[in-house]
Amino acid sequence: MTDRPSLGTLYGVGVGPGAPDLLTLRAVETLRKADVLALPRSNDYGLSMAWRIAAPSVGDVAGQERIFLTFPMSKDPARLRPAIEAACAAIAERLSRGQSVAFATEGDPGLYSTFIYVRQAISALLPGVPVEIVPGVSSVMAVPAMVGAALADGQERIAILPGNYGVEDLAEVLERFDTTVLMKIGPEIPSVLAALERAGLVEKAVYVSKATMPEQRIERDVRRVAAERGDCFAMMIISRRQRSGVLVGEVPFSPPDFAAEAGA
Ligand SMILES: C[S@@+](CC[C@H](N)C(=O)[O-])C[C@H]1O[C@@H](n2cnc3c(N)ncnc32)[C@H](O)[C@@H]1O
Repeated sequence: MTDRPSLGTLYGVGVGPGAPDLLTLRAVETLRKADVLALPRSNDYGLSMAWRIAAPSVGDVAGQERIFLTFPMSKDPARLRPAIEAACAAIAERLSRGQSVAFATEGDPGLYSTFIYVRQAISALLPGVPVEIVPGVSSVMAVPAMVGAALADGQERIAILPGNYGVEDLAEVLERFDTTVLMKIGPEIPSVLAALERAGLVEKAVYVSKATMPEQRIERDVRRVAAERGDCFAMMIISRRQRSGVLVGEVPFSPPDFAAEAGA
């Protein structure tokens, strides 16, 4: 009787928002040690953004296999499901042989990442498969840093919304939260701008695309992006109030808000 190899470990590795030096030490070590790198891309001919970010630190590792997995940018389950199934079959085959597989994701693997679906599907295919997550610097953290403003202080509340799933309740969210982060905004830019105009908050919004990458763009007059379909790596942050932290009101102190010029 032949022993079956024990299952390899599946790693979900966040590679950060774009700058190669925003990879964590753990991410680099995990990516370098894995037998197989699973690298998502949005079409068969395009680049894997996760690999573009990780390649300078990870480089070529002798004996390591790289598999590029295509996940179309679509909300349609009929298009996405076959892609996820094909990707998971390729990953599961390697894990079953006892190989470790590191799936690299842009930002953090736990936020709007394909890794979430991949992990679920692999766990169903290979019950008991060991899974480890290496957190990454999310764009939600990187964008405020590039803009030069804090995300929240003191008692402030933050909301994060996926714009591509509709923004019908945006006015209500803007009313209830001090800071609203709008991710995946591409097709929704016109309705976002209309809601901001109605709420009188258009001056309090900032648009940022490709934060920390060489192509980074910060647009403090968000009306300028009205005619654009939006970059795949773009978000808006809207800060409703002046900072409400403990110092405000006690000392003359007016920290910058998102839309304010920060030495730009
Ligand atoms: C599929 S989600 C992935 C989020 C990622 N897991 C994270 O933690 O940042 C893609 C969305 O993240 C945002 N995003 C990711 N990287 C970005 C960057 N470098 N600059 C601005 N927005 C970014 C955009 O809103 C984009 O539409």
